[in-house]
Amino acid sequence: MNFSAILYIVIIICMTIFIRCSTESYISTYDFVIIGAGSGGSVLANRLSEVAEWKILLIEAGKEEIFLTDVPLLAPIMQITDYNWGYRTEPKKGQHGYCLSMVDGRCNWPRGKAVGGTSVINFMIYTRGGKADYDKWEAYGNTGWGYDDILPYFLKSENNRLKYHDKRYHSSNGYLDVSDVPYVSRLRNPFLQSAKEFGYKINDYNAERLLGFSAIQANLRNGRRVSASKAFLDPIRQIRKNLRILTFARVVKILIEPETHRAIGVKFLDRNQKMHIVKAKREVLLCAGTLNSAQLLMLSGVGPRQHLKQLGIQVIEDLPVGYNLQDHVSMGALTFLVNDTVTIMESRLLTNPVNVFDYFIKGTGPFTVPGGAEALAFIDTKTFLERDNHQDETADYPDIELVLGIGALTGDLSGSMRHLFALTDDFDRQVFADHKGSDAFSIVPILMKPKSYGRVSLRSANPLDPPILEANYYEQQEDLDTMIRGIKAGIKVGMSQAFKHFNTTLLPMTFNGCDRFVFNTDEYWSCVARHISTTLGHFTGTCKMAPRTNGGVVDPRLRVYGVKSLRVIDASIMPEIIAGHTCAPTYMIGEKAADMIKEDWAVSTI
Ligand SMILES: Cc1cc2nc3c(=O)[nH]c(=O)nc-3n(C[C@H](O)[C@H](O)[C@H](O)COP(=O)(O)OP(=O)(O)OC[C@H]3O[C@@H](n4cnc5c(N)ncnc54)[C@H](O)[C@@H]3O)c2cc1C
Ligand SMILES: *[C@@H]1O[C@H](CO)[C@@H](O)[C@H](O)[C@H]1NC(C)=O
Ligand SMILES: *[C@@H]1O[C@H](CO)[C@@H](O)[C@H](O)[C@H]1NC(C)=O
Repeated sequence: MNFSAILYIVIIICMTIFIRCSTESYISTYDFVIIGAGSGGSVLANRLSEVAEWKILLIEAGKEEIFLTDVPLLAPIMQITDYNWGYRTEPKKGQHGYCLSMVDGRCNWPRGKAVGGTSVINFMIYTRGGKADYDKWEAYGNTGWGYDDILPYFLKSENNRLKYHDKRYHSSNGYLDVSDVPYVSRLRNPFLQSAKEFGYKINDYNAERLLGFSAIQANLRNGRRVSASKAFLDPIRQIRKNLRILTFARVVKILIEPETHRAIGVKFLDRNQKMHIVKAKREVLLCAGTLNSAQLLMLSGVGPRQHLKQLGIQVIEDLPVGYNLQDHVSMGALTFLVNDTVTIMESRLLTNPVNVFDYFIKGTGPFTVPGGAEALAFIDTKTFLERDNHQDETADYPDIELVLGIGALTGDLSGSMRHLFALTDDFDRQVFADHKGSDAFSIVPILMKPKSYGRVSLRSANPLDPPILEANYYEQQEDLDTMIRGIKAGIKVGMSQAFKHFNTTLLPMTFNGCDRFVFNTDEYWSCVARHISTTLGHFTGTCKMAPRTNGGVVDPRLRVYGVKSLRVIDASIMPEIIAGHTCAPTYMIGEKAADMIKEDWAVSTI
């Protein structure tokens, strides 16, 4: 039996034991009904339930975490369990397509389905994005969202445990642990030391400057995952009687009165497929994430008029819901062979019981590395590639992030990584066959500020149908050009002096469909980028916060335009994707929203 088979069995056994068969009862009117217990929803549930006289209902389609979801290295494997909604993109084949090496030309788009949401299956990397990101949000007309306004909300959440950090930008009083990864591989230092060769510094990327190289800062406690649920719900769930959490409850519609345009409650299916209605006296707060928040709004009559009419949905408010979709696309197969046993390989991990012992008893060892990602660099590829002396000290706009992965598809003997991306067996045979079992690491270039936009739309008026997801990766040539520079920059780092003592070799892979191009040319990488368009799951923007005249769905207080008592509070409100991973910014959005809600109600009740 191989690794993934064993894991499947373990997971299934654990789930059967852990599923709680509680009989849920609930009152049918609350002050606030929160849809979705993900990153945004969990923060809100915590902060709003601080007000003792408010009754809060948190409705979640998924279930509770188990000890396996806590294991950082296993993060990718959670995507092949039912902790993932299991969405896939629409295919776009041909020369200008994307996800071309995936089964049916469709990429997997993972979304967490759990108390804790996507933070239960994500890679736990803690990044906030750059000052420029938020100042731009504000410049779009979103008063109160500039960097200086939002920084306090990052600090409010944070419980900092990092050895090295810039104290002016961190705090240790919040709920969310931010810590170092206990395990340090022999690849981490060469990666960090290579910074010097490119005129970059090793820095705290959540402080003064974003550009630089760094070990990852992660949401870990004792080497285990800290999800939204662990951070924001566990400390309060037993204590606060005014907060009720419903699991296995899937919202199918937000009830909005057509005459008054007021959101009055939600309709949901329980685990036995029975329909229920709960009412919200004050507000309905939509936190279902970028894909599902857009879907639920449209199902409830808020969205593009033509689209809704075609599906026979009564239009309540005509808004550009589902557009402005952005994600961080990457090229996850840039592989470097090494001549030493320094990488993480399934075969070695499992045959050595010390690793398992270290993790469970001490909270250390390779199992604590989040998805195998150990270090990262935010770079500006133009100066990185064109000047070999030093980085421009004034600009601070990364166009590419490089992530060091201390394993690669060559070590993926069971195929679990490959299935995750939905890479075809053909692809795997052709590219990796000669090198299966070789030690290798990867450097993953990620496109930080895409100019192409995707879209979420409804497949039908049936709420149980998955939405239509168009990624539109590389629709704009500029995005492809940037990714090619990112791949070249990744190669420079992998082949730098710092790695020389491992005799690094760029895996001379000829990808299916790209063999007509000369290896390691721009044309070749451009083809590869369209084939291996791997996602980081950083979907944002479908309920854009902006003035209505500028494609906005919500205003700067996150209220849906034209609908009363309804706000959206999750990654979907980002007007533009930030240069970084999107979980911490979503916590920040939750913190800020909670304060705005408290402000708004204090004002109107006085
Ligand atoms: C594989 C992967 C790795 C990632 N790695 C990182 C990382 O390392 N660092 C980082 O910062 N970010 C990472 N991210 C992104 C980050 O986790 C998300 O951006 C963030 O968690 C989004 O928060 P959210 O509140 O918008 O949505 P979610 O956390 O997805 O929450 C939405 C919740 O709503 C629930 N829901 C949806 N529809 C319904 C319904 N109809 N009824 C009831 N409940 C519903 C869902 O089940 C879910 O629990 C990663 C994402 C993925 C997919
Ligand atoms: C270094 O790698 C090359 C292949 O790129 C190989 O031919 C050579 O034998 C390796 N040297 C050592 C010392 O491992
Ligand atoms: C790997 O290759 C480098 C460079 O050729 C060499 O110095 C080193 O000794 C090799 N390491 C091993 C374990 O073979």
